Amino acid sequence: MVLFRLLPLLSALLISVLHSLPWSIDISESQGPGTVLQIFSFNCSFYMPTLELLGVRPPTSFFNNPSLHRKDKGVYLGKVTLSSSARLDALAVNRYELQLQYKCGNFVTAGPLFVHVQRDPGWIQCAGPFASPAGEFIYVPETVTPGALLYTLLLPGLGVQRAQMNITSAQDPPFFPGPFSIDDQGFLWAPSQGLSGQAPKAFPLRILVSLGKGQSCKGMLTVKVLPAPTSQVSFLQKAQSITIPEDLVPGSKVIQVQAKGSNLLYEIISPVPSPLYSIGQVAGVVRTTAPLDLARAQDAGVTKLQVKAFERLRPWASAVFDLTVNVRAVNQWPPRCHPALLVTQIPETVPVGTALHTLTCFDPDSASNPLDYQLQFHNPPDSTSLRLRDRVLEVNTTLDCDTPGACFQHAASILVLDDGQPQMTTEVPVLVMVTPINEFSPACVPRTFRVREDAGPHTLLGSIVGTDMDYPRNSLEYYISGGPSTFAVDRLSGELHLLGPLDYERQKLYRIIILLIDYNQDWDLNSHRSGSCTVTIEVEDVNDHAPECEPPFQELTIYTPLGRSMEVTKVSCWIPQEPQRSTLSYSIVGGNSQNRFRLQGTVLMYNDSVLGPPWPEQPCTYELLIHVADVGPSIPHLSTTATIIAHLVPWKASTVATSTHRSTVSSTMTPLIVTDVETFWKPEPWFVVVVTATGAVLLLALGWLLTRILQGFAQSLQASSKPARALLPNSNQGNEGSIKRLMEAPRMEISQHFDGRAHDVCTGRDYLFNTGTGARRWL
Ligand SMILES: *[C@@H]1O[C@H](CO)[C@@H](O)[C@H](O)[C@H]1NC(C)=O
Ligand SMILES: *[C@@H]1O[C@H](CO)[C@@H](O)[C@H](O)[C@H]1NC(C)=O
Ligand SMILES: *[C@@H]1O[C@H](CO)[C@@H](O)[C@H](O)[C@H]1NC(C)=O
Ligand SMILES: *[C@@H]1O[C@H](CO)[C@@H](O)[C@H](O)[C@H]1NC(C)=O
Repeated sequence: MVLFRLLPLLSALLISVLHSLPWSIDISESQGPGTVLQIFSFNCSFYMPTLELLGVRPPTSFFNNPSLHRKDKGVYLGKVTLSSSARLDALAVNRYELQLQYKCGNFVTAGPLFVHVQRDPGWIQCAGPFASPAGEFIYVPETVTPGALLYTLLLPGLGVQRAQMNITSAQDPPFFPGPFSIDDQGFLWAPSQGLSGQAPKAFPLRILVSLGKGQSCKGMLTVKVLPAPTSQVSFLQKAQSITIPEDLVPGSKVIQVQAKGSNLLYEIISPVPSPLYSIGQVAGVVRTTAPLDLARAQDAGVTKLQVKAFERLRPWASAVFDLTVNVRAVNQWPPRCHPALLVTQIPETVPVGTALHTLTCFDPDSASNPLDYQLQFHNPPDSTSLRLRDRVLEVNTTLDCDTPGACFQHAASILVLDDGQPQMTTEVPVLVMVTPINEFSPACVPRTFRVREDAGPHTLLGSIVGTDMDYPRNSLEYYISGGPSTFAVDRLSGELHLLGPLDYERQKLYRIIILLIDYNQDWDLNSHRSGSCTVTIEVEDVNDHAPECEPPFQELTIYTPLGRSMEVTKVSCWIPQEPQRSTLSYSIVGGNSQNRFRLQGTVLMYNDSVLGPPWPEQPCTYELLIHVADVGPSIPHLSTTATIIAHLVPWKASTVATSTHRSTVSSTMTPLIVTDVETFWKPEPWFVVVVTATGAVLLLALGWLLTRILQGFAQSLQASSKPARALLPNSNQGNEGSIKRLMEAPRMEISQHFDGRAHDVCTGRDYLFNTGTGARRWL
């Protein structure tokens, strides 16, 4: 309406302006299509007027051809408007010059209309080719990396404000390999599936840019997929295989690949990531990046690499090369064994075949490689006591310790060899200590010892020799089984000693059990074994009684013819306490002058033939002393002497018979018994005690008597009225009587029967006889 009110003014202006000055108007860039820029009024009668837009500088389609309508008779209104494609952008173009031409009949007038686009800071718009109806075209090679950034949509004013960008058009398969995406910064991303094989498709994408405050604009992006350019990049060969040793240190060069082309870069495209190899981007040198330990990473054996060479500036110009890297095993490590040291302790009794240890070894170079095991002995060398059977250390022979020096420490080693090149070995030391076991019981052989019954204490009877099959053999102790004994055995030497007195008559035979206990024959010091044997001790009889003769004294008269031998008498003696001891020796020890008598066993013979003339005319008497002693192994011999008094009466030739008159000893005559003990007598302790005690009693009695006598004497001195003599004999009488009785027997023996002399009537010599007292021991 304002416009129409201005019309007359404008029309007047137009007429004048059309003829003179150009028009100029300001318009905000935020004005969209259809906006009326200018209205013109024209008078034209009789003709049909035209208003034309001859051109726009800079050229654009933003402006519609001006329209011209008849408003009144002869009055027309011309209108200049923005076209539907108008996207004014003050930053891009801020001034347009529109060349207008008006015709009315023959009247033609022309002039420029200057349109000044004013900047509107709050206005964001879809501008540029994007906003054009055809939209923006983006060309992408089909080899583009999947998901790669394709394009950045920049809109004026978007630097300050944030817009939401959405692809509103459908992206449905199968036409689309996958959806494109755009983010708020205007980054357009390729589908994650990539675009290979999509050439020469074009993917139109309608983009909605939404700003806050309900402001939005639309635009179009069309992605055109280009076929992969026929590459000028190529490798000399498509594939190569290479073998490298596994002991390459990381960073070692494997190979240098080279492609034809200019300004090339290289990369490994498979596998991604590549754990073992890398490639120099520029030089194309493939290097190792990690140890190629085949034992740890078996799949490092063969690696198939794909290397791509591409032009730095045209990445899609590329070529791919297949590189196969084979890793050759290198024997680097000796076998590793568990345990690394075999130390064990076993008893000697361990049976053959016992497994001591199982060795577990493996080759770090290759776990599957077979290993060889060898057992080597160091000490004792060449031993066969242990063996190795399939990694198991076993006892091969008995480990018996019972021979001297046999209980060893077996020192050996197990050599483990792999089969690589060069061969690597590991030595596992082996130490087997054999400990002794007390396996056997000690033993001794039964023995018999003989001992004289008069043997003194500590007499050595003999030694018991115990044996033990365990080593050391003589680790034995000897004991006598049972309680206290007459015998003692030395604990260590086994010597058997006499401890107490023996008496053949009381016990002829002893059986004692000797107990043997071994020690120090076992690993366990408390392990003992025992054995025993019986020792028999035979007591040898020793005569302890002198022989006695019956009768001990003979007196006989021999009537003997001249020159004849004859039996005179028989001496009959024995040991009454030991009647079994019948063998006695007889010898004439005295009175046998001119050797007229001799003994044939126990028979006394008279030999007259030794006598030459002159024959004795009158009878003569011989007092023969016959020594009778016991016979036997024992020394000393106990003996007695029998006396035979022979009266020899020469016999006339006429007398035929020889007679012997035997006068036996009268009952009133006690024969003299002479007993001789030839060695020192050693009384037994009890006897000494008894004698000492008896002596002491006697002394006490005598002392008592003396005191009594002295008391009596003193009393008699004091009582002078009493006659001293009367008391003394009395007391003497009593004492003497008792003393007499004590002494009676020996005195009578000596005084009544024998004065110790024998007189040989025939020779006139006297014989003095020993009167030994030894026999009294046995009284
Ligand atoms: C156009 O015609 C009208 C009336 O007929 C007249 O008043 C006006 O002055 C004319 N304008 C021009 C420029 O001739
Ligand atoms: C545009 O995309 C955003 C996510 O990027 C979403 O939140 C929004 O709703 C979308 N707008 C339209 C109109 O689709
Ligand atoms: C095992 O012992 C036997 C004899 O008993 C011997 O012949 C063999 O050589 C021994 N083995 C080893 C490995 O010492
Ligand atoms: C008697 O004694 C003589 C002389 O010594 C001797 O030769 C003779 O053999 C003896 N007679 C007998 C029987 O012993």
